[in-house]
Amino acid sequence: MAAVDIIVGTVYGSAMSVAESLEEALIAAGHEAVLHEEAALADLNPEHFWLVVTSTTGQGELPADILPLFSELRDNSGPLPQLRYAVAALGDSSYEHYCGGGQLFNALLQELQATAATEMLTVDASETLDPEVPALKWLQGFMAKI
Ligand SMILES: Cc1cc2nc3c(=O)[nH]c(=O)nc-3n(C[C@H](O)[C@H](O)[C@H](O)COP(=O)(O)O)c2cc1C
Repeated sequence: MAAVDIIVGTVYGSAMSVAESLEEALIAAGHEAVLHEEAALADLNPEHFWLVVTSTTGQGELPADILPLFSELRDNSGPLPQLRYAVAALGDSSYEHYCGGGQLFNALLQELQATAATEMLTVDASETLDPEVPALKWLQGFMAKI
């Protein structure tokens, strides 16, 4: 069984609901999962899996609640080659920078030499009314890798 730190970026709460559903499903499957709101680097353990669930705001930008962690990682963190992670990105394909927030986080973790445990999930709000459904399906693939 694995330890998972869930990191959330949300403006209106959809990503938070998705993160809560993923946390519940991970715990039900016997994993140790902790959801971090407005996470700081010190709250997180790079020996754990990181599950980043974030929406996109502005023009392909990260929500304000996850930005401090992003900046801390970019500016203050050394390489994290031991870290394994996955990103679930909520967005809307009617915007130019589809799921840009998730892409930014994914690119930063790649730069820090972390390894994606599974491919990034993208959930399109213009097609999916209930983002939990594709997210929980995708989680099965993530859980198969941890
Ligand atoms: C002001 C605004 C800007 C947005 N910009 C983008 C964007 O650039 N790219 C994208 O894919 N989605 C964009 N979205 C869509 C949101 O990411 C999407 O609706 C998401 O499900 C919201 O999740 P949240 O409730 O967790 O914030 C934007 C939504 C709003 C309201």
